[in-house]
Amino acid sequence: MSTYSSTAISHPNIAFIKYWGNRDNVLRLPENGSISMNLGGLITQTCVTFEDGLPEDTLTLNGVSSTGKSLSRLAGFLDQVRRMTGKKMYARVTTENNFPTGAGIASSASAYAALALAASRALGLDLEERDLSRLARLGSGSACRSVPGGFVEWQKGQSDADSYAFTIAPPQHWALIDLVAVVQSERKPVGSSEGHKLASSSPLQKARLAGTGRRLDACRSAILNRDFEALSRVIELDSNLMHAVMMTSTPPLFYWQPASLAIMKQVQYWRHQGMAVCYTLDAGPNVHVLCPQEAAEKIRLRLADIPGVSQILQAAPGGPAHLADGCTLD
Ligand code: PMV
Repeated sequence: MSTYSSTAISHPNIAFIKYWGNRDNVLRLPENGSISMNLGGLITQTCVTFEDGLPEDTLTLNGVSSTGKSLSRLAGFLDQVRRMTGKKMYARVTTENNFPTGAGIASSASAYAALALAASRALGLDLEERDLSRLARLGSGSACRSVPGGFVEWQKGQSDADSYAFTIAPPQHWALIDLVAVVQSERKPVGSSEGHKLASSSPLQKARLAGTGRRLDACRSAILNRDFEALSRVIELDSNLMHAVMMTSTPPLFYWQPASLAIMKQVQYWRHQGMAVCYTLDAGPNVHVLCPQEAAEKIRLRLADIPGVSQILQAAPGGPAHLADGCTLD
């Protein structure tokens, strides 16, 4: 009996300039380019074993066997890898996150970055970074940004061939810290794949898209010049714009909880008092609070005092998706 195994590790990422809305929902070709930072220390480990004789693909996520939508999305992705290699075997996939899943901490990004690497390697493909990023994109758009390391830009491209992500600065370029203020969520929000389909129903999406080129330029320069003030201005604006689109789509999507807003207001207040700090939120209620490393401890203590903050995760810029020696999950 033949078995083919590989294990990969990747980090989630936080978008500084957001991806929201697709030109093509199947290929996940985005309406606009985006920029993000990988979150070092937050880790997804994924072990993939293709085996002759397995009747179907299986998925175990954080020790629990998955069925339904998560499994069919995974199987659809593995079909793509099978098509690329001409192999027909099904796979056992075991994956674990060391951070909360499905709460606005881009777990699908690290999930599909690690899966793309582990599955393609297991079946004997040795993809270049850009092709691995393109493959990961088919599983989850933002996953293409978890393939390269550090500060990353996803160019929207013209087609599948040139819609991929690349590093604009390595992790050690800038000692930024992301303090993720985890807020208790009362209900499970609508997932991003569904959300992207609603973006064009908002009357604000056109205006958001019209300014994205300028914001990408401003964000890229702020990163390259390590200009925290400029970064703060552009990422808070971009986060607010995306959430305005979400809130005005049909049906509307409200990801914020009361505590999310309380944190945003505190962060703005601290900044007006002279602290280097700013916020951004992905598709969830948790607030990513960014600051230079030297301010992180003080801000972490202040965040912990805000009612509704249940946990604070801390991440520095993280490296690329990479292979691991062996699976520690079986
Ligand atoms: O990759 P998806 O389909 O989970 O979409 C991610 C969408 C946001 O996290 C809200 C923004 C982004 O650019 O990551």
